[in-house]
Amino acid sequence: MSSTKASQYTTAKVLHWIAGVFIGFNLMSGWRISNFELDIKEVLIMIHSGVGLVVFTLMLVRWWWRKKNNLYTPPNWWKRPPVLLQWIFYPLLLIQPVLGFSVAMYNEYEVKAFGFIHISGLADSNPALRAMFLDFHTWLAVAIILLVLTHGADRLRGLFS
Ligand code: HEM
Repeated sequence: MSSTKASQYTTAKVLHWIAGVFIGFNLMSGWRISNFELDIKEVLIMIHSGVGLVVFTLMLVRWWWRKKNNLYTPPNWWKRPPVLLQWIFYPLLLIQPVLGFSVAMYNEYEVKAFGFIHISGLADSNPALRAMFLDFHTWLAVAIILLVLTHGADRLRGLFS
């Protein structure tokens, strides 16, 4: 492998781990938000929504970087389940922040990503729409957790085979 290609893969791996840490943080912290008092909830959702928007941006950058440099595309890659699984993450991790954004728009308490992007101010609070988008957001979180576990198990198997 040329040194240029190797450094392109290194960049892809660094982006992978940065995104992974943020995704893991939101997957683990999201469930606990509703248990807190309003003032704490608003701080937690400020962090959660900000991190989610960073994930959205990172996934776009990662997609662009892989396409631009033609990374992880062995012959007939679409017939290889582990590579296919890697690609499935991209649309799902773009849809998940969009769903979270929709929950936040109709939320009954204030959501300000990074403390200044006033998402809940974009629409009137709407419990029915909020509940619908939260259901989608929750089920997609469960699906992503299962896919992350599958991806992790596959990587571990690769290390020991
Ligand atoms: C990869 C990105 C994201 C992941 C993995 C994620 C994950 C989660 C999870 C697991 C929950 C808990 C669901 C439940 O309690 O049933 C949640 C709740 C929520 N998320 Fe996200 N989320 C992400 C991005 C976002 C973004 C970008 C926003 C807003 C801009 C957002 C807004 C919310 C809101 C408003 C809730 C409900 C909090 C409450 O219980 O009051 N999420 N998220």
